[in-house]
This record gives sequence, C-alpha cells and structure tokens, in this order.
Amino acid sequence: RRYASNDATSKPHGVQSLGVIGAGQMGLGIALVGARVAQLPVRLMDVSQDQLDKGLRFMDKLLEKDVQRGRLTAEEKQQVQSRVSVVRSVDELASTASPADLIVEAVSERVDLKLSLFRDLSEATAPNTILASNTSSISITKIAGASLHPERVIGMHFMNPVPVMKLVEVIPGLATSQQTIDTTLAVSHAMGKTTTLSQDVPGFIANRLLMPYINEAVFALQEGIATREDIDTTMRLGTNVPMGPLTLADFIGLDTCLAIMRVLHTQLGDTKYRPAVLLQKYVDAGWLGKKTGRGFYEY
Ligand code: CAA
Repeated sequence: RRYASNDATSKPHGVQSLGVIGAGQMGLGIALVGARVAQLPVRLMDVSQDQLDKGLRFMDKLLEKDVQRGRLTAEEKQQVQSRVSVVRSVDELASTASPADLIVEAVSERVDLKLSLFRDLSEATAPNTILASNTSSISITKIAGASLHPERVIGMHFMNPVPVMKLVEVIPGLATSQQTIDTTLAVSHAMGKTTTLSQDVPGFIANRLLMPYINEAVFALQEGIATREDIDTTMRLGTNVPMGPLTLADFIGLDTCLAIMRVLHTQLGDTKYRPAVLLQKYVDAGWLGKKTGRGFYEY
C-alpha cells in the first residue's frame, strides 16, 4: 500500500474547484457532495441540456427535502445551489477564469467514449489538474494510457446513491503519481467519504465481491432453489443488508450487472465468473430493473 486509507494526518487537499462530467445519477450525486459537503465550487458538464436540467431539478428536490426536515436552512440550500454551474463541453469546462483542479468523469460505461474524453481532457486542462474516472469496470491504466498525463489519472469509484453511500474506492493506475493519490484521498474525505485503496484489477474490490454474489443469487433463482422473495429475505434478514441481492440487481441495473460479470469472466478467465443464463435472458428481454419498470420484480 502506498498510502494508509483514512490517514488522520491527511493534509488539506488543495483542490479549489471541482469539475464533474456526466449529469446522470452518479455525476449528479458527486456534484452534490462536492458542493454541499466539501463546499467546493462545482462545474457540472453534460452534452445534453435536458440531462443537466433534469439533474438540477433532482438536486433541488434532494436539498428541499432536507430543508423540510430542518437539516438545512433555505439559505444554506441556496448557497449549495449557487456553487453549482453547468457547462456543455470540455472546452467550456477547461476555459474559465478558475478551472477545476479535479475533474471526475461519470459518463456511461463505454470504453471508446472514456478514452477519447480523457485524451481531450488531458489536452485541454492545466498541467496540475487531476483527472478521475468513476468507472466501475474499465482499467484505469488503460484510460490513463489514452491521456497525455497518465500520472494525473486515477479511479474514484463512488457507490450509488452517492449522497448516501459512505465509500469511495480509490484506484491508482500503473503510472499514477503519489501526489495524485494523496489529493484524491484527501478530497474524498472532505466529501465525507471513507476511502479504500484497490489495485487496478477487474471489478476492483466492490464489484469483484458484489457481482459474483448477485450472479449467484440469479443462479439460485434459475435453479429453482427458492422464490425471488425468499432469496432476498434470506440475505436481507440473515446477513443484515438493506436490500436482498435480486432487489439490489434491479436497483443497479441488470445490464450493468451483466456487463461487469462479462468483464470479470473475460479478463480473469475463470468459469466461476460466467454470467447466469437468466441474467442474460432478462437483459435480452429489456427487463433491466427499476429503470425500465421490470427486472426480477415489477415496479
Ligand atoms: N439519491 C440521493 N439520496 C437517495 C437516493 C438517491 N438516488 N435514494 C435514496 N436516497 C436517500 C433517501 O432520500 C433517504 O434519505 P434520508 O434518510 O435523508 O431521508 C435515504 O436514502 C434512505 O432512503 P429510503 O428511506 O427511501 O429507502 P431505504 O432506507 O430503503 O434506503 C438505500 C435506500 C439507501 C438505497 C438502501 O436501500 C441501500 O443502502 N441499498 C443498498 C445500496 C447499495 O448497495 N449500493 C451500492 C450499489 S453497487 C455500486 O454502486 C457500485 C457499482 O459499480 C455497481
């Protein structure tokens, strides 16, 4: 280990401004904890104005709920919102009077998209800008390899829903500098998160353990070992997790679960990671979980 997780002597992080790319569920959550908890100015970028509008509305809803409950004053809510501005392109993100020192990418999980984005970012940003990816399954070393400055590229894997989940997995690539690691850990702590450090291997820590567990639950269902309800209840009440594995799979998205299992299977080469046929079948049917109204359950 190159750095102790949650080292109490972490120095102030030195990041003055945060950039977030992608205004989906994850990007929005990252922008929110950046603005609210770390109290940083945040520039949120998305190519879609619709997505940005939707994201800001969702942020407003989350903050408003806390105002209603007396956890935040109306003035504090307004301050958090005033820290967040939106832009539509990498050029706009980079070419401002106070460019971000840390940019977290949270776009959809497509290798080609991430590689070209990191190349553009490394060309457009100042030499000290840290470029972090929220990828859950793409190699950080590969993303860094497409960038002109691999020493500034790092994995910062947040969990969904970001405002609630306390963890950030930090993943240095082969060439990531110690300074990049130190700053990323410190900023994550300022966002109120606990950090763990993982090697740059398929699935990192969380998905290496979580996805085979979910996949095994699908095998159990496929083999008729128990009903979906009994599989979930057994794990929920038997191991004190907030959601059973099939409910969690629906929450994450069955397409995402399948994609991550495929990465584990092909890159680790062990048949124990083969995706359950039933998981593939549901994805083929378009039953992707909560987001499509049907997965292992109906919504
Ligand atoms: N964004 C922000 N906040 C959210 C939210 C969202 N999308 N969804 C729920 N919340 C908040 C609620 O507002 C609520 O906050 P308050 O306590 O302040 O009111 C809180 O979470 C609890 O929500 P609920 O009472 O509605 O429901 P719950 O008690 O069932 O909790 C849950 C919901 C937090 C999602 C909980 O079920 C849970 O922890 N589930 C497991 C989540 C998990 O395992 N996530 C990791 C997925 S894997 C991953 O992310 C990595 C990957 O690469 C695939």
